[in-house]
Amino acid sequence: MKTYKIAVMGGDGTGPEVTAEAVKVMDAAAGKFKFKVEKVNFDFGGERYKRTGEILPDSAVEEFKKFDAILLGAIGHPDVAPGILEKGILLKLRFALDQYINLRPVRLFPGVETPIKDKGPKEIDYVVVRENSGDAYTGAGGFTMKGTPHEVAVQTAVYSRVQVERCLRYSFDYARKYGKKARGVGPENTLGLVGKTNVLTYIYDLWERAFHEIGKKEYPDIRRDYYHVDATCMWMVKNPEWFDVLVTGNMFGDIITDLGAMTQGGMGIAAGGNINPNGVSMFEPIGGSAPKYTGQGVINPLAAICAMQMMLQSLGEETAAQKVEEAVKFVTANKLKSMAAGKMGYSTSQVGDLVAEKTIE
Ligand code: IPM
Ligand code: MN
Repeated sequence: MKTYKIAVMGGDGTGPEVTAEAVKVMDAAAGKFKFKVEKVNFDFGGERYKRTGEILPDSAVEEFKKFDAILLGAIGHPDVAPGILEKGILLKLRFALDQYINLRPVRLFPGVETPIKDKGPKEIDYVVVRENSGDAYTGAGGFTMKGTPHEVAVQTAVYSRVQVERCLRYSFDYARKYGKKARGVGPENTLGLVGKTNVLTYIYDLWERAFHEIGKKEYPDIRRDYYHVDATCMWMVKNPEWFDVLVTGNMFGDIITDLGAMTQGGMGIAAGGNINPNGVSMFEPIGGSAPKYTGQGVINPLAAICAMQMMLQSLGEETAAQKVEEAVKFVTANKLKSMAAGKMGYSTSQVGDLVAEKTIE
């Protein structure tokens, strides 16, 4: 029997509550589909930082390298200045573990309300591959004459050919395996590059050249499209059905996936994976720690459960992942009144129970 070592980091606010439900469904799936999970809990986050001053020591990063995957709840504490925990935990892990892919599906599940009129699960069904290691996130830049009226701030977007190529290959492979044709819901598998070649004439020129060179040579079976990022925002609302797999840089990916999350029913349902295809990946609900709902049992755990589902898929437990996805869809279609906290018609833990029961049915 296969055994997976999973690091569980509930984090702040409602993070631990939703993560507990993801673990519940994972354990149910393990029993049903005959694999084992060894879980180790880590309490990094705002509370620990306030108590001990420790954010995430390098020794913990080394520790995480021994796991098969990390399941993360949420990072962000109302008493801690913004940026400290995000940089010190989330971004530190993404960089230290070289999780260079941030995979963010934008899929509307049946029964989930979208603010986009006349669009349903058939139309809102694509994936954003957000590059996760470069761009304005590397910390390149600085101030000169800080504190004077002549102060200058520079923050540089950085991309190397290697960074771009590894992300593109992952995206082409993903489109080949999980694109619309591969899933039997469209005529072809398409990868769309989202950029800004009309203004960012260095960075996205590099992306575009690499995109077509690699695509033409190694992935002639994958259709290639190019979109400017501003137009992408428009089409994500107007014609989301045009998209299949999208790939973009770190900053644009950050921004467009919040828009995508709203179109798929909001933060209660949107999940993502920080993936190192050859290393340790970390899966998380995209929403924040929602501190005002902490401990009330009203927060929606589906995003955390979907993050866990992505983890199962990345570990190679495809059948279990498929079953969890079906269970989530069953629950959104037939059970939940709303995706919003306090309005689901069930408590956090009851939603976990519903998904777990359906998974092992
Ligand atoms: C995200 C978040 C992070 C990011 C923040 C918290 C640093 O917005 O995961 O999308 O910008 O990547
Ligand atoms: Mn973001």
